[in-house]
Amino acid sequence: MQRSRGEKEDTDKHMGLLKLVKILSFLVVFVAGVVIGLATSSHINQYFTSQARLYFYTNHFSATTMPGVQNNCSIVQSCEKVDCLSMERFIHPGNLTHSMSDNELFWRASMVPNKKRYPFNRVPKVAFMFLTRGPLPMLPLWERFFQGHGKRFSIYVHALPGYKLNVTNSSAFYGRQIPSQNVQWGTVELADAERRLLANALLDFSNERFVLLSESCIPVYNFPTVYKYLIGSPHSFVESYDDPSRYGRGRYSRKMLPEIKLFQWRKGSQWFELNRALAISIVSDTKYYTLFRKYCKPSCYPDEHYIPTYLNMFHGSQSANRSVTWVDWSLGGPHPATLGEANITEGFIRSIRNNGTRCSYNSERTSLCYLFARKFAPSALEPLLNLTSTVMGF
Ligand SMILES: *[C@@H]1O[C@H](CO)[C@@H](O)[C@H](O)[C@H]1NC(C)=O
Ligand SMILES: *[C@@H]1O[C@H](CO)[C@@H](O)[C@H](O)[C@H]1NC(C)=O
Ligand SMILES: *[C@@H]1O[C@H](CO)[C@@H](O)[C@H](O)[C@H]1NC(C)=O
Ligand SMILES: *[C@@H]1O[C@H](CO)[C@@H](O)[C@H](O)[C@H]1NC(C)=O
Ligand SMILES: *[C@@H]1O[C@H](CO)[C@@H](O)[C@H](O)[C@H]1NC(C)=O
Ligand SMILES: *[C@@H]1O[C@H](CO)[C@@H](O)[C@H](O)[C@H]1NC(C)=O
Ligand SMILES: *[C@@H]1O[C@H](CO)[C@@H](O)[C@H](O)[C@H]1NC(C)=O
Ligand SMILES: *[C@@H]1O[C@H](CO)[C@@H](O)[C@H](O)[C@H]1NC(C)=O
Repeated sequence: MQRSRGEKEDTDKHMGLLKLVKILSFLVVFVAGVVIGLATSSHINQYFTSQARLYFYTNHFSATTMPGVQNNCSIVQSCEKVDCLSMERFIHPGNLTHSMSDNELFWRASMVPNKKRYPFNRVPKVAFMFLTRGPLPMLPLWERFFQGHGKRFSIYVHALPGYKLNVTNSSAFYGRQIPSQNVQWGTVELADAERRLLANALLDFSNERFVLLSESCIPVYNFPTVYKYLIGSPHSFVESYDDPSRYGRGRYSRKMLPEIKLFQWRKGSQWFELNRALAISIVSDTKYYTLFRKYCKPSCYPDEHYIPTYLNMFHGSQSANRSVTWVDWSLGGPHPATLGEANITEGFIRSIRNNGTRCSYNSERTSLCYLFARKFAPSALEPLLNLTSTVMGF
């Protein structure tokens, strides 16, 4: 037994040596092959120089301890301490400053995660998007409205370039201006600005509903009511109707054929409310938007037709076809009534909150039809602030 085991060990050793020799000779042949291959390769010079440059680059920057360089994610370097692809920044983009062009911005905003579950606790938020020329006279009213609901909303302000909202750092509006461009009211630039607001707001993955507001808009219910109403609805609130007059169908251009047909043409108030899926669909569209840009002019107003028509063509069933923003057309004419100090009474605000008509919400009838109202003059602010706790519930 012992002997045979010894013999076996000897043969095993022998076999082991043979294997080692085999492996070594294979390696020698392999390395020789690689060296010959590289030597004959035309890439060899390039390869070595780029390696050298990279090496130099890394060394150069780690050797000189310039402040700021360690945090510079534009430089390829060993990034052990710096979180160059920060999840936090990706999920919660804090500072809204950026230098992306619309084209770059819309591309980024159009991205949809394919994975269904979020790797973070996603509290859906309502994005309040203010499209304004300059000041927001109703700001104190809105601040009171937002007070205490920090995690469930985000604000975006598109003002004319050069205008800077003057608010203290404790305001909900502080640092919420997005990079803007000039807007000529009545032109396609207005629709551009709406899409720019949507795209900036889409960069925050928690934003689920998107409301467009102006400087003359006010809330008529408190935040929890508005939040529940919007988050709880499968429909988006975009006014949409077929107006046979020259102010509706009359603005359609046959040059939009064959993509957009007259029977698909819709009109509606520009003050929309959209869910995330529809917002992404709108910032992703180039084909139909280009037609509006080219042929919806003059006296056509893309902001009143593009979104209603586009939704009617592709997402009709997801739209409530009504707006949640009340407006007073009773005077007639091209512009709605502007309401000032004299108009603000308890009874008046109550009539906006519930004027006796009922509308459909999640296939039920409700008297709660309007969450916001326009158009209010700056003089309406003081009396409105007096009514928030008694009538509006905030
Ligand atoms: C980061 O490095 C790039 C390239 O060298 C440079 O242009 C940029 O100014 C640097 N940024 C900071 C914040 O240091
Ligand atoms: C900003 O607002 C503060 C306080 O209301 C005021 O004192 C200041 O002059 C304003 N600044 C500008 C540039 O308007
Ligand atoms: C807000 O501004 C005040 C005074 O200007 C300053 O003391 C405070 O640190 C600021 N707070 C933040 C969070 O930036
Ligand atoms: C956002 O970042 C820019 C550029 O770094 C800076 O100028 C601006 O003050 C920041 N805004 C806020 C609100 O921190
Ligand atoms: C809104 O109009 C579309 C047609 O564009 C229709 O399919 C949809 O059912 C309407 N929505 C509601 C809630 O009635
Ligand atoms: C608002 O007040 C003005 C001036 O008093 C009045 O002419 C107008 O009818 C009022 N509008 C409403 C909707 O009460
Ligand atoms: C309620 O408001 C709607 C929309 O503004 C209007 O069409 C309707 O006539 C109003 N109803 C009453 C009773 O005032
Ligand atoms: C606001 O309410 C106070 C007390 O309730 C009253 O004295 C004041 O005149 C009101 N202001 C306006 C603008 O209605």
